[in-house]
Amino acid sequence: MHYYVKSSNPEKQRAGCVIVGVFDRRKLTGPAATLDKAGGGALSGALRRGDLDGKAGQVLVLHHVPKVYADRVLLVGLGRERDFDETAYRKACHAATRAVRATGAIDAVSYLTHLPVRSRDIGWNVLNAALVAQDEDYRLDAFRGEKPRDDRRLARLTFDVPRRSDLPVGERGLAEGLAIGAGVALTKTLGNTPPNICTPTWLADQAQALAKPHSSIKFRALERDDMVKLGMGSFMAVAQGSRQPPKLIVLEYLQGPKGEKPVALVGKGITFDSGGISIKPSDKMDEMKFDMCGGASVLGTFKAVAELKLPINLVGVVPACENMPGGLAVKPGDIVKSMSGITIEILNTDAEGRLILCDALTWVEREYQPSQCIDIATLTGAIVIALGGFPTGLFSNTPSLAKALLDAGEDSGDRAWQMPLWEEYGAMLKSEHADIANITGGREGGAITAAAFLHRFARRMKWAHLDIAATAWRAKRATGRPVPLLVRFLIDLAGKSGDAAA
Ligand code: BES
Ligand code: MN
Ligand code: ZN
Repeated sequence: MHYYVKSSNPEKQRAGCVIVGVFDRRKLTGPAATLDKAGGGALSGALRRGDLDGKAGQVLVLHHVPKVYADRVLLVGLGRERDFDETAYRKACHAATRAVRATGAIDAVSYLTHLPVRSRDIGWNVLNAALVAQDEDYRLDAFRGEKPRDDRRLARLTFDVPRRSDLPVGERGLAEGLAIGAGVALTKTLGNTPPNICTPTWLADQAQALAKPHSSIKFRALERDDMVKLGMGSFMAVAQGSRQPPKLIVLEYLQGPKGEKPVALVGKGITFDSGGISIKPSDKMDEMKFDMCGGASVLGTFKAVAELKLPINLVGVVPACENMPGGLAVKPGDIVKSMSGITIEILNTDAEGRLILCDALTWVEREYQPSQCIDIATLTGAIVIALGGFPTGLFSNTPSLAKALLDAGEDSGDRAWQMPLWEEYGAMLKSEHADIANITGGREGGAITAAAFLHRFARRMKWAHLDIAATAWRAKRATGRPVPLLVRFLIDLAGKSGDAAA
């Protein structure tokens, strides 16, 4: 699929389809009224006959509208005009993309991008329309034996902007939308790939493959021997139950001011979480292939950042291993020593994310002294209970960093919600014989106590933790979240430090 931005009259479009919006109670938007006028009332006639009244999500295809060059006109219901907001805009874009794909049109021009969305500009409109379209266009057929017929005819989608002077802003929005979309698609595919293929070694290979066409990205991976030498006793304890060798995947993208400390992204890369000796129930255990989605979002973010050539310094670290039971697996009661020197009593081998992340956090702090460090992890079932499936859980020891991430979430529609990180929660992780236990006695505040565990290893950094257990996948499909949030955060950061990329 190819995407374009242009500015021209709706009735003059020689395309398979033009897409225009109608508000509730049959109120035509500007471009719809233009088509209606050209076509001698063809649109308002169809509305009067009751075929569409403009409720959100409604769609209607008209053929042969007089004096309109396009083969079809797609009308999209927008809901009530005074309720029209960002969510309604994205919903309309979804409905439009799905409906136009169901027609025979090979190319289409959308005028939904003209719609005013409160405190958003045309660039935002184009960016979001492009993201929605790419989301709709995504599929993964690599693992089907009987190849399904690719019935996606739509090959070109153009987003129209009201004035020629809007073109630069529209183009910029499209470029950002395509880069973020590419990052989202990569993250989805890594997440969706089955765990017999998506092993730590395969994930490292994908990171290397990402670095190959982008000379701005440098790849390396630490092996088990390296990590044992570094004293990563906690990460290695999780990895020891599997035949698959662990990897510490490291990506560097240093395109910012020389000597400026990088932002660090640390992503949980458990390629399958069986729970280990504290084995999980088998219901939905297949979904634990998604336990590497934090790591996948680091790779997806690097892809977007490299495509946008952001002038920033960024490092990505993905501790990757399987969590499996076995004769050599770590056991409840084992005490291990983390790279930081803090000893950990592993009371439940299923609380493994924090065990691999704590060593990755210590390593990245010593190796890079990052200006700020963000970890991303499908860390707890408890965050699903606390927040449901809409926001990512955010924890941070630095209010300005938390705010920047929350704002990036609002801007991108990939939202986060802040949770507390008080000392009281950390105090719940007492161990009888070690410095800290990897779980508390009960389930209360499970997402927060997990964050408090990580914080113990990140205290000296400006740090934030994103618990994506409720947002990284839905109904057996990876969502690509929180790549839009992270890329928006980094674009904003690039704009703040030095000469903006815009
Ligand atoms: N990867 C899981 C968290 C998870 C569970 C994500 C379900 C999405 C859906 C994590 O490793 C885990 O098992 N966490 C335990 C922690 C508990 C043992 C303290 C959990 O959430 O149950
Ligand atoms: Mn687990
Ligand atoms: Zn896990």
